[in-house]
Amino acid sequence: MENRRSFVKKCLTGCAVGCLAMAAPGLSVYACAGRPQTPISKRNPKRALVLWYSQTGHTGRIGRIIRHVWEKAGLTVDAADYREIEKSTFGKYDLIAVGTPVYYMDVPVNLQDWIKTLPRIEGTSVAAYVTFGGKGNGQHNTACGLLEQMTDTGGAAAGIGLFGNMSTFAPTWSTGNAARILAFRDRPNEKTYQQARAFADNILANVAAGRTYKIDREFGLESLMGIIPQIDLTKLMITNHHIDKSLCIQCGTCIKKCPVDAIHLQAGTVNSKRCIACMGCVNNCPTQALKMNFIGKPVYGFKEFLKRNHINIMEPAEQSE
Ligand SMILES: Cc1cc2nc3c(=O)[nH]c(=O)nc-3n(C[C@H](O)[C@H](O)[C@H](O)COP(=O)(O)O)c2cc1C
Ligand code: SF4
Ligand code: SF4
Repeated sequence: MENRRSFVKKCLTGCAVGCLAMAAPGLSVYACAGRPQTPISKRNPKRALVLWYSQTGHTGRIGRIIRHVWEKAGLTVDAADYREIEKSTFGKYDLIAVGTPVYYMDVPVNLQDWIKTLPRIEGTSVAAYVTFGGKGNGQHNTACGLLEQMTDTGGAAAGIGLFGNMSTFAPTWSTGNAARILAFRDRPNEKTYQQARAFADNILANVAAGRTYKIDREFGLESLMGIIPQIDLTKLMITNHHIDKSLCIQCGTCIKKCPVDAIHLQAGTVNSKRCIACMGCVNNCPTQALKMNFIGKPVYGFKEFLKRNHINIMEPAEQSE
């Protein structure tokens, strides 16, 4: 794990930048409004790609709905988790939707890094959507950030979508705050899925009309919070992160889920320096062999949380087709 001194340095830098932004908010707004906009040139899309990063399924469900709507509209659509996508194929798409969960009020760092390595997609229409937990925290700006990154690769902005779910931040329920999550136990629901269908239709309408979406980040206390190194802060509270070999059935799920190759299955160890505290391993381990403490309390994952609270997530109708 990063040492405390470098963490404090990052915090101070974050605060300094935050103060600067507060002192001169116009500066940031100007920077945002000054982004060049690529016009939508492919107004009759034939081939589309829907890709997502999803650790516990919420973002994947929305992605599958978008695929379904676009297929019904006559497009040929490929859809998958970003980890299964071949980057060199990007040139063949006229329209791309990218989805992500909001992590630490931002686009997850692993997805940001991956997008930076994409080939240029000059003039391809791009849409961004996010899923977020409960009332949400940073969802609008995260969607804008994702769309900005895609337009930086040459894409033309076609719109953003925001979809609320139950939060999957395991430390919340593991430290006695389950009620905060359970208040949203019915999400996602049919309303969420209707929103997703409407979003997919809306993107097609924008593309057909050549309507580019003006990326409009919101500036306020919430956006300043995003400057604080939240992953480092969270990591300071994590201890005892390892695999209990007596419980492990060697299914490989944690290895597949870990976006930064931080898990060593044979040794039963987690490289805390590499770890980005995404909770993907803890949330998906089927036997609770993946151990983690948060502020000294044992963390249990999303699957176990659903089981303990008798929650069955409602799947969209498209899932069974
Ligand atoms: C590590 C972590 C950090 C999170 N941070 C936020 C956040 O800052 N704001 C928010 O609204 N939701 C946050 N969430 C909740 C997720 O964004 C939300 O549950 C999302 O729908 C999960 O998507 P997935 O099931 O596709 O992985 C966080 C969840 C995790 C696991
Ligand atoms: S070790 Fe677990 S929490 Fe850390 S990055 Fe990998 S999957 Fe995420
Ligand atoms: S997900 Fe759990 S059971 Fe599966 S390999 Fe990892 S630690 Fe073992």
